[in-house]
Amino acid sequence: MRVAIIGSGPAGFYAAEALLKRTDAIVDVDMFERLPTPYGLVRGGVAPDHQKIKTVIRVFASTAARPTFRFLGNVRLGSDVTVEELRRHYHQIVYATGNEADRRLGIPGEGMARCTPATVFVGWYNGHPDYRHAQIDLSVRRVAVVGNGNVAVDAARILLRTPAELEQTDIAAHALEALRNSQVREVFILGRRGPEQAAFSPTELKELGTMQDADPVVDPGELAGYVDWESTSNAEKDKNLRILRAFAARQPRANAKRLHLRFLVSPTEVIADAAGNVAGLRLEKNRLEARPDGTVAAHGTGAIEILDVGMVLPAIGYAAERIAGVPYDEKARVIANEDGRVVDPASRAVLANEYVVGWARSGPQGLIGEHKRASAHVVRHMIADGAGVAARSLPDRDAIVALLRERGVQPVSFNDWKQLDDVEVARGARRGAPRDKIVEVEAMLALLGQR
Ligand SMILES: Cc1cc2nc3c(=O)[nH]c(=O)nc-3n(C[C@H](O)[C@H](O)[C@H](O)COP(=O)(O)OP(=O)(O)OC[C@H]3O[C@@H](n4cnc5c(N)ncnc54)[C@H](O)[C@@H]3O)c2cc1C
Ligand SMILES: NC(=O)c1ccc[n+]([C@@H]2O[C@H](COP(=O)([O-])OP(=O)(O)OC[C@H]3O[C@@H](n4cnc5c(N)ncnc54)[C@H](OP(=O)(O)O)[C@@H]3O)[C@@H](O)[C@H]2O)c1
Repeated sequence: MRVAIIGSGPAGFYAAEALLKRTDAIVDVDMFERLPTPYGLVRGGVAPDHQKIKTVIRVFASTAARPTFRFLGNVRLGSDVTVEELRRHYHQIVYATGNEADRRLGIPGEGMARCTPATVFVGWYNGHPDYRHAQIDLSVRRVAVVGNGNVAVDAARILLRTPAELEQTDIAAHALEALRNSQVREVFILGRRGPEQAAFSPTELKELGTMQDADPVVDPGELAGYVDWESTSNAEKDKNLRILRAFAARQPRANAKRLHLRFLVSPTEVIADAAGNVAGLRLEKNRLEARPDGTVAAHGTGAIEILDVGMVLPAIGYAAERIAGVPYDEKARVIANEDGRVVDPASRAVLANEYVVGWARSGPQGLIGEHKRASAHVVRHMIADGAGVAARSLPDRDAIVALLRERGVQPVSFNDWKQLDDVEVARGARRGAPRDKIVEVEAMLALLGQR
């Protein structure tokens, strides 16, 4: 059976691994990736000061070393190659394209200068070629990060770390330089609901108390409901509450930068100065209301405050990009599917031999390791549905590469990537870092002698 996997993040690599490890099927896997570099958010999302989690790429590289695996980087589904072409050249297709769009607050002023989605800020400091030229102006002293998830925590931490804490990471050189000159002294992480509803992982939250030159600040008043509190029914939430209580009891160092964790506030307008830059954020105080289904919703109370900030980073979640020819679920903002089988969004009829894994399937929740089981689950559907599909004769395996070259697309192989990898690692060694990323696609291709 010949399978095309689109996207080289964790979900795509775990799907490849599950397919290639099967003993009951012989599978050739071609993995298409729009960038010349593999690994999706492991390279372009995971924070540079979290190097340990990135060692997972060793597992992915060993999958890539299997003889029936082929990497076709620098090929974007939807423009360089079409879904129809893939259907002709492969027995089955797996979409593993992640969530590359950001969710919007939908408030006045959202698009103005210095109001920048976290997707952009994260891509910028991680050297993702799409965001190399993002305008990140760190001449401001106070920044609001909207959202109570781990991405908000990442963004706040990177803004507040010292250059010494970052230079021996794989942070992009342009971001390190900008952060060296940063004027940011205070960051506000804003949650629309309460501390008990925050989506932070305890480990990530706790780390905020260990920064070299920044201290967390929590208003004990905002934790008032948890003073005599024993525990919730959720161990993670309990840990978060204990950490927040410890932060509230701390005295921040006099000259340290500050990270304020605020709850029960929703931004209602980004306020502009005369030049059209962010000059503040209008916040409405919320109260919580339990719904009949047990969930807890935030409702505005009408009480307003203006937060004096010069930059706003909404970190309120991601969504799947629409790809030409791939069925899209408008409501969930993922590729339309039933348990990983792609479906027509209107009729819900299954589209034979097309599958989806990872964030493109489930939306933007979950950690890297969770994709191993989830992708293997979808691969079991593929094998169950796949009886007989390999009988359909296909063009020669190299025909797809010839087709791409004919239209001027130069696929980047895994060996090509290894060359780029070597260059990055050697450049990084100069500053004691694991790598110094090449951040322009053109520069990558030039290094490979393709441009
Ligand atoms: C900022 C951030 C930090 C995170 N940090 C952690 C962490 O520390 N620990 C942890 O466990 N989890 C972390 N996560 C979660 C983790 O990154 C995700 O669970 C995981 O990466 C999702 O995997 P995926 O393969 O579905 O998508 P992705 O990793 O996004 O991979 C999708 C791939 O598809 C490619 N692609 C997209 N469209 C096309 C196309 N049309 N044609 C070809 N290729 C395409 C993309 O370039 C990308 O390489 C983080 C997430 C974010 C956003
Ligand atoms: N180090 C790590 O392990 C790490 C790092 C980064 C990301 N990740 C993972 O990646 C996934 C995505 O993370 P994420 O932080 O993007 O998403 P997330 O965990 O879903 O958090 C999104 C946050 O945005 C809030 N929000 C949504 N819409 C809002 C609005 N209109 N106004 C105000 N707030 C709004 C949500 O509040 P409500 O709860 O009220 O909706 C929630 O607090 C998660 O699974 C996360 O754990 C892990």
